[in-house]
Amino acid sequence: MKGVILAGGTGMRLDPLTRVTNKHLLPVYDRPMIFYPIQTLVTAGVTEILIVTSGPSAGDFLRLLGNGQALGVDHLSFAYQEGAGGIAQAIGLAQPFVGRNRMVVMLGDNVIGGNVIEPANKFRAQPHGAKVLLKEVDNPSAYGVAELGGNRITRFVEKPAQPPSNLAVTGIYFYDAGAFDLIERLEPSARGELEVTDLNNAYLARGDLTHDVLQGYWADCGESVDHYLHVCNLVARHGANRGS
Ligand code: G1P
Repeated sequence: MKGVILAGGTGMRLDPLTRVTNKHLLPVYDRPMIFYPIQTLVTAGVTEILIVTSGPSAGDFLRLLGNGQALGVDHLSFAYQEGAGGIAQAIGLAQPFVGRNRMVVMLGDNVIGGNVIEPANKFRAQPHGAKVLLKEVDNPSAYGVAELGGNRITRFVEKPAQPPSNLAVTGIYFYDAGAFDLIERLEPSARGELEVTDLNNAYLARGDLTHDVLQGYWADCGESVDHYLHVCNLVARHGANRGS
């Protein structure tokens, strides 16, 4: 299984910290943010990784990471996303790298306290389709949220004003290569982007999506400056998957 880390975007919610650099290069306690998702994937046995980035600081990832071997990456590649086309568009850029393989996609601003070894193994054993990882949160309106009917997910809603549950969709997604065809058929959302929530809904509509609840803490550093500070404190107190 290949790994794809998304490290583009403008990081507007962390302005002015992100005015002259990419959000994923900012420190989280004692490591640059991008180290954390890399380590999460490497720990789950995913050592061929593509980083999709954008903007004027794109070259700094190469300076910081080199060939990735210091973090346990066997094969590190980069792709460049022009403009703000959305998470699903960024995943589409991974097609030449992923080919007919499977992939785990992780948003570069997500930090977890545990690991994804078990869900990754379950996905490897799943015949096809997708898997998302959910986490109970206090502020679901800030995320993609799962709507449940009984024990089943009926749909995902992106940043709903009235959340149908407190189960956020974390930024860790498992897909088969069928994702690329589904992405080609997506329509841009109201904000003009191809939404990962629509990709997940497309898998759900085909009855081809499983889910797990992520163990340990989960945090999205990009949500707000207060949240970013909270993540730094969590990592300082409890540690995280962040590499050497
Ligand atoms: C994105 C996704 C959202 C998901 C979140 C997880 O939001 O659109 O569905 O819950 O990542 O980190 P963003 O934080 O990019 O606004």
